[in-house]
Amino acid sequence: MLGTRPEAVKMAPVVLAAAKHPLRFKVDVVSTGQHKEMLSSMLEWFGLRPTVSLDIMRANQDLAHITMASLSGINDWLKSAQPDWVLVQGDTTTTFAGALAAFYNKIPVAHVEAGLRTHDRYSPYPEEANRVMTGHLAHLHFPPTLGARANLLREGIADADITVTGNTGIDALLWTKAKLDAAAPERVSTSGVEMLVTAHRRENHGEPMRQLCTAVLRLLDRFPELRVNFPVHLSPKVREVVLPALGGHPRIRLTDPLDYAAFVEAMAGATFILTDSGGVQEEAPSLGKPVLVLRESTERPEAMEAGAAQLVGTDPERIVAAVTRLITDAAAFQRMAQVANPYGDGQAADRILEVLFARHRLPLPELSRG
Ligand code: UD1
Ligand code: UDP
Repeated sequence: MLGTRPEAVKMAPVVLAAAKHPLRFKVDVVSTGQHKEMLSSMLEWFGLRPTVSLDIMRANQDLAHITMASLSGINDWLKSAQPDWVLVQGDTTTTFAGALAAFYNKIPVAHVEAGLRTHDRYSPYPEEANRVMTGHLAHLHFPPTLGARANLLREGIADADITVTGNTGIDALLWTKAKLDAAAPERVSTSGVEMLVTAHRRENHGEPMRQLCTAVLRLLDRFPELRVNFPVHLSPKVREVVLPALGGHPRIRLTDPLDYAAFVEAMAGATFILTDSGGVQEEAPSLGKPVLVLRESTERPEAMEAGAAQLVGTDPERIVAAVTRLITDAAAFQRMAQVANPYGDGQAADRILEVLFARHRLPLPELSRG
């Protein structure tokens, strides 16, 4: 099951790895279409063709619409297809609806990127609740890190049902980077400082997003060598603030969301990254890019602990201070740039498939199908 941009990126390695073993796995990709344009360009890059596309997206959709439309469409498909397993990824509303529909049909659920927690149900909203509820519906749990595993154990999930795999997003990144490097091994480096920005979280809609724009403008005033690359999420709630606030500035490039390969190039070409994205926080350390996180809490503490990432919230003063340090303090910059990625080694999908294959041959006594 998938429906949004990050789910496509992080499920693609699992689907592609399973396709190498047609005698072991038959995979159907079910898309809710929670995202439309942003999903299709991701699917295209990885060559994924959904078996079913529910096409549920509406402009400015609310959470109840996403849940109800996904649940109903997935439920109909599961009733006829009766797969042995349903795989869901992460913490979107598609993820939760997919797990719930599978539970209603007594089909076991495997949760990829399980166990991430902030322990604050409104931050991120609604993702923290989505992942907790999904975790309690799942039979198998694939946390990316030991910290995520510990969260699951604290919630009473049996150790035997948990396998730490690394994050499949790192599989996708390394696969993509290798393809890009093979096509163009010499990257042209540009002078100046390039700041890549993305923002979309619901808790940052409205005033926090305005504050982020204020910070970006102050930084451009302070540093004439600074250029900003900001691919703007298609959510109207993001665009109604960012486009009028930052459009027209000669050193800001505002674009539509980039397809995955172009975004990986943008990350590789950036000096550092400012983001509220979960996936980008995980990817940046693999590319040696310091990442400033536009949130007050994170379910991904590993990059902070390793020194590759820093929480800066959306207060303009904090953002300006953190960026100023990165631009003016070479030693501080180097400390953040030279950190090994704590989120994976590019083998997560293979580990997931090994466990699924082994488990498939064991009975699941608590399920009486029919
Ligand atoms: C969703 C997920 C969030 C994830 C993010 C990744 C939920 C509740 N939120 O947030 O966890 O981090 O995706 O990007 O599951 N839109 C388009 N075209 C697209 C995609 C979106 O026009 O291709 C617009 C639509 O008006 C849509 C709005 O963006 O209603 C918001 O999309 P939605 O999926 O509800 O929320 P995201 O902020 O994208
Ligand atoms: N991404 C992309 N193009 C963009 C912005 C992000 O391909 O313009 C990728 C990014 O590399 C990461 C994923 O989308 O793999 C993250 O998605 P997003 O930030 O929307 O969601 P989150 O990870 O916060 O759930």
